[in-house]
Amino acid sequence: MMENNKEPLSLIIIIGFMLLLNLVLGVDSAEKFRITRHDFPNDFVFGSGTSAYQWEGAADEDGRTPSVWDTYAHDGYVHGGQNGDVACDGYHKYKEDVKLMVESGLEAYRFSISWSRLIPNGRGPVNPKALEFYNNLINELISNGIQPHVTLHNFDFPQALEDEYGGWISRKIVRDFTNYADVCFREFGDRVSYWITINEPNVFSLGGYDQGNGPPHHCSPPFCVNKSKRGNSTTEPYLALHHILLAHSSAVRLYRTKYKEKQNGFVGISVYSFGFFPNTTTEKDILAAQRARDFFVGWVMEPLLHGDYPTSMKKIAGTRIPTFTDRESKLVKGSYDFIGLIHYTNLNITDNSLVLESNLRDFSADMAVLMHGSDLFANAEYPIEPWGLIEELNHFKLNYGNPPMFIYENGQRTASNASLQDVSRVKYLQGYIGATLHSLRNGSNLKGYIAWSFIDLFELLDGYESSFGLYYVDRNDPELKRYPKLSAKWYSWFLKGRSFAVEAIELEKDSSHISIDHFFD
Ligand SMILES: *[C@@H]1O[C@H](CO)[C@@H](O)[C@H](O)[C@H]1NC(C)=O
Ligand SMILES: *[C@@H]1O[C@H](CO)[C@@H](O)[C@H](O)[C@H]1NC(C)=O
Ligand SMILES: *[C@@H]1O[C@H](CO)[C@@H](O)[C@H](O)[C@H]1NC(C)=O
Ligand SMILES: *[C@@H]1O[C@H](CO)[C@@H](O)[C@H](O)[C@H]1NC(C)=O
Ligand SMILES: *[C@@H]1O[C@H](CO)[C@@H](O)[C@H](O)[C@H]1NC(C)=O
Ligand SMILES: *[C@@H]1O[C@H](CO)[C@@H](O)[C@H](O)[C@H]1NC(C)=O
Repeated sequence: MMENNKEPLSLIIIIGFMLLLNLVLGVDSAEKFRITRHDFPNDFVFGSGTSAYQWEGAADEDGRTPSVWDTYAHDGYVHGGQNGDVACDGYHKYKEDVKLMVESGLEAYRFSISWSRLIPNGRGPVNPKALEFYNNLINELISNGIQPHVTLHNFDFPQALEDEYGGWISRKIVRDFTNYADVCFREFGDRVSYWITINEPNVFSLGGYDQGNGPPHHCSPPFCVNKSKRGNSTTEPYLALHHILLAHSSAVRLYRTKYKEKQNGFVGISVYSFGFFPNTTTEKDILAAQRARDFFVGWVMEPLLHGDYPTSMKKIAGTRIPTFTDRESKLVKGSYDFIGLIHYTNLNITDNSLVLESNLRDFSADMAVLMHGSDLFANAEYPIEPWGLIEELNHFKLNYGNPPMFIYENGQRTASNASLQDVSRVKYLQGYIGATLHSLRNGSNLKGYIAWSFIDLFELLDGYESSFGLYYVDRNDPELKRYPKLSAKWYSWFLKGRSFAVEAIELEKDSSHISIDHFFD
């Protein structure tokens, strides 16, 4: 289906050429160029990912206790009352799944450790059965030449710590998280070189502590999506994220002092980012888009870079956003070896500063914008707009110090009962991998691309109704048999060196909008 036809011209030259054609001749060119795995540096890794609660199942086996995500699902807040008790049964089927990864040619696999499986009460004794499972999984990956990228917290801290002191709203969690990280570094760090402390703390804090549409389901009226037993949407999102940054940097410091010399690994954090585009060219919409990026991304990135929150956030949230002491500021600043970017889709941003006249404001109101984008809560396919990824990577390059980065999640959502011929997922991956190469060649410090997700998972918002997997999981089959979708075959071809075509890169009038048209060959 695809020819192995490596195009010698670089993407940059092509873009320059097309630009020239468009500007000078005013014509659209249908010139095609091809992209292969070999256009990326040798040490750039391609992989795919899952996370513990979404993949493992075996929720109450071998000593695991519930996480806040178990509780959230069992309380009925996920589509159709679904939960991750069984998920993909990865706990028992990990060998089978690693075999599929090998067949697919994956170079890296990103997964997460279940804190409440490893340390069932959140602190204290380590569960030997969990050690055995994660050792087996890691060994299986390593012996097949697949690089593990391991997340420590993916929306799923132990319910025991939520019950005891309120989880992330208490500073006590900093010590417990650091001890948990210590166990992971000590037990697995001889084979794991890439650690992500906390996955998308921005979305976790917004969903879990403001709107209440994610675990641990804290929110206060009138900001709740569903009524909640506890919470304070005006303060808790800021507090939770503050403690996350302290816990993250404490784990990084621990790694650097106790493990780095011996294990030579890298510790980072992942951040969720939309593409933020002003809805109009008015100054207030341009400022609004910048403010939205400050609230979403700067919230995490500015403290990591400079040891403090963005000025725009401090001005608006006032005393509701915690203050870093000098000691904390020093601890947080520079506490990363790399940043993981999670990106799916774009938003058009309109200024909504009027809302700042109200005194009762949650994190979302503080942002003071209206967002328009593909509905996060609908079971719908994402538009393929890879210029949003290019735009965000440019911002990381220009405003956040161009850190080493992995794209840790990016992929197409479809209904889980959609066809195995998932052409839209193939087109999505082609567009975004094309954008990744474009950004790499324009100076972004990119180290890898990890597609979400390896197989169909229990998803945060839609349960089993929507899916992102390269492999389909037949949930009507008690064996939960996996079937490759077209996207799995396509990704495998690409990873094994075949090329794909990208056609007509053009810069539009608004230079922030680069559209990459691409089609399945
Ligand atoms: C949560 O809110 C949604 C939307 O209002 C509603 O459909 C759903 O039934 C609620 N879930 C629970 C468990 O109350
Ligand atoms: C949230 O916390 C703030 C600051 O402590 C307090 O003024 C406010 O009353 C709290 N709101 C709720 C709903 O508890
Ligand atoms: C976004 O901009 C368009 C004009 O480009 C306008 O029609 C629309 O009302 C704006 N949306 C909002 C919510 O302001
Ligand atoms: C955002 O604005 C662009 C035009 O600038 C438009 O093409 C696109 O449909 C808008 N997206 C949404 C989700 O409103
Ligand atoms: C998938 O499920 C939805 C909702 O139940 C249904 O409307 C749709 O027809 C189904 N599609 C297929 C291809 O079975
Ligand atoms: C390349 O990066 C520069 C900043 O270093 C940015 O201004 C420019 O828009 C980028 N070009 C493209 C085509 O993305």
